[in-house]
Amino acid sequence: MSRALRDIPEADLTALEAAAELQTLAKEIAGHDGAYHQDDGPRIIDAEYDALRRRNDAIEERFPQLVGADSPSKRVGAAPAGGFAKVAHARPMLSLGNAFGADEFKDFVGRVKRFLGLGEDEPVDIVAEPKIDGLSVSLRYEKGRFALGATRGDGATGEDITENLRTLDDIPEAITGAPAVLEVRGEVYMAKGDFEVLNQRQNEAGKKDFANPRNAAAGSLRQLDPSITASRPLRFFAYAWGEVSEAVADSQWGFLDRLREWGLPTNPLAELCQDVEQCLAYYRDTEGKRAKLSYDIDGIVYKVNRIDWQERLGQVSRAPRWATAHKFPAEKARTLVKDIQIQVGRTGKMTPVAELEPVNVGGVVVSSATLHNEDEIARKDIREGDTVVVQRAGDVIPQVVEVVLEERPDDSRPFAFPRTCPECGSLAVREEGEVARRCGGGLVCPAQATERLKHFVSRDAFDIDGLGGKHIGAFWKDGSIETPADIFRLRDKAEAIENRQGWGEKSVENLIAAIDNKRRPPLDRFIYALGIRQVGQATARLLARQYGSLAGWREAMMAALDRDSDPHRELVDIDGIGPVVAAAILVFFAEQHNRDVLDDLEEMLAVEDFATPEAAASPLAGKTVVFTGRLETMSRGEAKAKAEGLGAKVAGAVSNKTDYLIVGSDAGAKAKKAGDLGIATLSEREWFELIG
Ligand code: IVH
Repeated sequence: MSRALRDIPEADLTALEAAAELQTLAKEIAGHDGAYHQDDGPRIIDAEYDALRRRNDAIEERFPQLVGADSPSKRVGAAPAGGFAKVAHARPMLSLGNAFGADEFKDFVGRVKRFLGLGEDEPVDIVAEPKIDGLSVSLRYEKGRFALGATRGDGATGEDITENLRTLDDIPEAITGAPAVLEVRGEVYMAKGDFEVLNQRQNEAGKKDFANPRNAAAGSLRQLDPSITASRPLRFFAYAWGEVSEAVADSQWGFLDRLREWGLPTNPLAELCQDVEQCLAYYRDTEGKRAKLSYDIDGIVYKVNRIDWQERLGQVSRAPRWATAHKFPAEKARTLVKDIQIQVGRTGKMTPVAELEPVNVGGVVVSSATLHNEDEIARKDIREGDTVVVQRAGDVIPQVVEVVLEERPDDSRPFAFPRTCPECGSLAVREEGEVARRCGGGLVCPAQATERLKHFVSRDAFDIDGLGGKHIGAFWKDGSIETPADIFRLRDKAEAIENRQGWGEKSVENLIAAIDNKRRPPLDRFIYALGIRQVGQATARLLARQYGSLAGWREAMMAALDRDSDPHRELVDIDGIGPVVAAAILVFFAEQHNRDVLDDLEEMLAVEDFATPEAAASPLAGKTVVFTGRLETMSRGEAKAKAEGLGAKVAGAVSNKTDYLIVGSDAGAKAKKAGDLGIATLSEREWFELIG
């Protein structure tokens, strides 16, 4: 699209210019519709999409004679203007960890047994069932009536698609004999045959077809008009629960029975297995049936059958310890590497990306693949012009498996990894022991600066509506946003922004409101947003939990830096943080520049202290506990998880920061040290009473 054209106000366009722009708008909007509906992967945020449509409508209003048959204003099923209402899940919708191969599955069962303190030979019943390749949804029944239906979203918040789900025959409007509140979780999917028929229908109507049944199901569910969903052949399998007002079963297997009693469909292939061998036989057997099944599955899900055990096992990050997915092997295809490009990330890391001749890999069109780093390119000797085998495993980014050497052109040359940054020209260096080459441009590199800002506003960080990557790029270029805190000063520039192309009074007002809305970020999101190397969401949460407040965290980090020896100790003592992560965090704090950014942000924001709901009322909230000796009633892992769930920090060694030492049998030096320091020691019984 020509930039100059889009800059011209509608009122000033000539008819010729208007015609040209309507044509590009039609293409652009159709492309975004496709990404949103067919691929279920929108490429722009709603506000940007809305702006395109508004521009289209305004031009059409001025030039009604130019409204074509393919005008976006004539198509139905366009993306929602406002979208769906958000729904906070009463209990998070978890994802699953993966076991790649039989050995990893055996490890999973081993971990479960160790956690529960079972002997290796003690049996653990496991429910095995196909992993349906669809979309997970949550159905909330209140007093037996279907009251609310939601997508998974990010697991904590989904979208309200109640009316769409009501149109599915598999989802009963009313159920009898259920608890007053019952949330049923399961998978909406489209059968392969139905998918073929739907695509035929799409073709006949001159519409783009769907890439695979999963995308078709996703596109059909996320329709603002439920009558469109109703016209799509969607189905449902129930397999889990969310909030329930009373216990519904004492085993996973019994729960499936209850679901069927309530008239909810469950997968008929589910099986109760007694041991690992039976599970693995189930896997092989089901893989053999896979092609003949009427719906797509991408692996097997295994769940510990006893629900009291599930509860004890709990979860790590966002996945339960009591379940895992064992995926079927990845699907592969051959294609051509057109080009190898270098992307520069927020830490300056240069990632080579293969631009591919688009190819369908197991139902998904793949047009690029990460090549990870220069060693990986050298190891596989991947060159521009090569024919390669690519694969996708589940949701994982496509990978290049190998080069098809017979297809290599005669004039091919090994890929020369650039020694300078393609974005800013700075020298790119590779530190000892690192696989990544990094641009040394730091603050002057536009790619690094904008990627950092994009990370800051991204969905899992500040999640600012209407401030997408494109805007960040533009604001950075013209100097309105240089550091994260500038985002919160954008209000002062409102007038100047209003006068720029693509913006108006209303859209600027919305943007400022969206920014103001985020002035009280939860501590863990705030930490994640800083984009510290090695600090992802899980680590950010650990830090938030450990230190409780931004001030507490900063203080502890500065104190650690002031320490004469072993400053990392402070962080490495946190379960889940290793020396590499600890070093990255301290390096961040050692930089005056980063501390300035923090000061600046603190002026603009009120970062909320970390609090988990269950921890708020807990006697252990904010306490530091240490376990020593062997516990009789639970494994160390379980005790630790329990304590952390109640808001405690679990440390490895006794110090004057320790609040409680829990002493099992054969306690040693730690008990003595605690005695010397006058720290409260609890027996296992007393500990049990404390945690209720
Ligand atoms: S159980 C707490 N069972 O897989 C456990 N999930 O990768 C919740 N899925 O988000 C999931 N078939 O969308 C479960 N039989 C099955 C499943 C299944 C498909 C999906 C589900 C989940 C994803 C995790």
